[in-house]
Amino acid sequence: MKFYQLTAEQRRAKLTADGVQLLPVDPKTLAGLEQLSENVIGSLTLPLGLIPRLIIQGRPYRVPLATEEASVIAAANHGASCFNQAGGVQTSSLRRGLIGQLILAVTPAFKLADLRTQLPRLKLATNQSFLRLIAHGGGIKRLSARQVERVAYVEVLVDPAEAMGANKVNSILEFLGKQLQSFPGVSERLAAILSNAPSQFASAKVILPLALVGGGETANRLAQLSQVGQQDARRGVTNNKGIMNGVDAALLAFGQDFRAVEAACGMQASRTGVYRSLSRWQVIDDQLVGELTLPLATGVVGGSLASRPEVRQNIAMAGIKTAQELAEVIVSVGLASNFAALLALSTDGIQHGHMKLQTRQLVAGLAASPSEQQAVLQVLLARQSYGLAEAEAILTELREKNEYRN
Ligand code: MEV
Repeated sequence: MKFYQLTAEQRRAKLTADGVQLLPVDPKTLAGLEQLSENVIGSLTLPLGLIPRLIIQGRPYRVPLATEEASVIAAANHGASCFNQAGGVQTSSLRRGLIGQLILAVTPAFKLADLRTQLPRLKLATNQSFLRLIAHGGGIKRLSARQVERVAYVEVLVDPAEAMGANKVNSILEFLGKQLQSFPGVSERLAAILSNAPSQFASAKVILPLALVGGGETANRLAQLSQVGQQDARRGVTNNKGIMNGVDAALLAFGQDFRAVEAACGMQASRTGVYRSLSRWQVIDDQLVGELTLPLATGVVGGSLASRPEVRQNIAMAGIKTAQELAEVIVSVGLASNFAALLALSTDGIQHGHMKLQTRQLVAGLAASPSEQQAVLQVLLARQSYGLAEAEAILTELREKNEYRN
């Protein structure tokens, strides 16, 4: 039998027989995961942290974040707390729909104008074949065609209602592909696939009093640093990494397709032909104003959501009901993460806070009892010294002292 044809238990047994050491997995968990993915051999656990309160459009949200990086949760919470003190985040959305592409190789016999005359009929026929989508409030918004040399693009814009929509768009494209397979001049179907190009946008904006960010000098430095991200791609990409720290953690917690969002954000950042920061911070009328727009193709139904109880728990805990609301929560987390990073960079630098948090992870890896780990952590924090060698030396010192006392 091929590896993929084995059960997860059989795959694990095979690996063990090959000398691979595997951590134990609860059989029920393994059986559940096997339904979700392919070639499953185990599970990978991530901590789920929380922003207990982030006010968006006047409403407080609990926002779960899945990440192994403590500073991501700390930064998002710090940003959220500052935003809350200023009344929270204002959000808006521009959800154009999801783009799909039927890409056809064509011969000189192909006439684009002839294909275009067929589009209204095709649009009607497609909507009639996807009545469930219409019943959920979605459907085809636009069907268009263009040609570049020997390639024709039939592009569909689909309102996916409350789903992310990838499966639906791909099914619609399959349907269109069949309708057009014998269209004069079409020699081959090259692809029928959704495009991850930005089209579902969510924006967040905050207005912070200068006192909240430590005064005008800090605010101006922060705004200047933001401006640098508009001019210098190397800084821009790092600024955007600070945004994605929170965005990716939220996408994971809410079971969203983070690969699609990451790809779309890369394109969005380069939309002018030069890679730039996705956010902008400015001092306007003695206030610090921050803005961020992200392409966020989110969904609250469909995909694997129904079979992932922990994701359903997270969506319910946040009280999120629609795909648009979810996107607005996620972009707000991105802005909070970005703000906290820029504020740290414009004041103490980030290393101090980071190292403090990472020291907890380092100490957790020491071969020591929980009380010894706690004692080592206290000494490291007091000395502001964060290396493993230092931690081990402190542990030895503490043990020697205790022996002497005994
Ligand atoms: C680190 O994870 C993220 C930052 O580098 C973001 C930034 O520089 O803006 C601190």
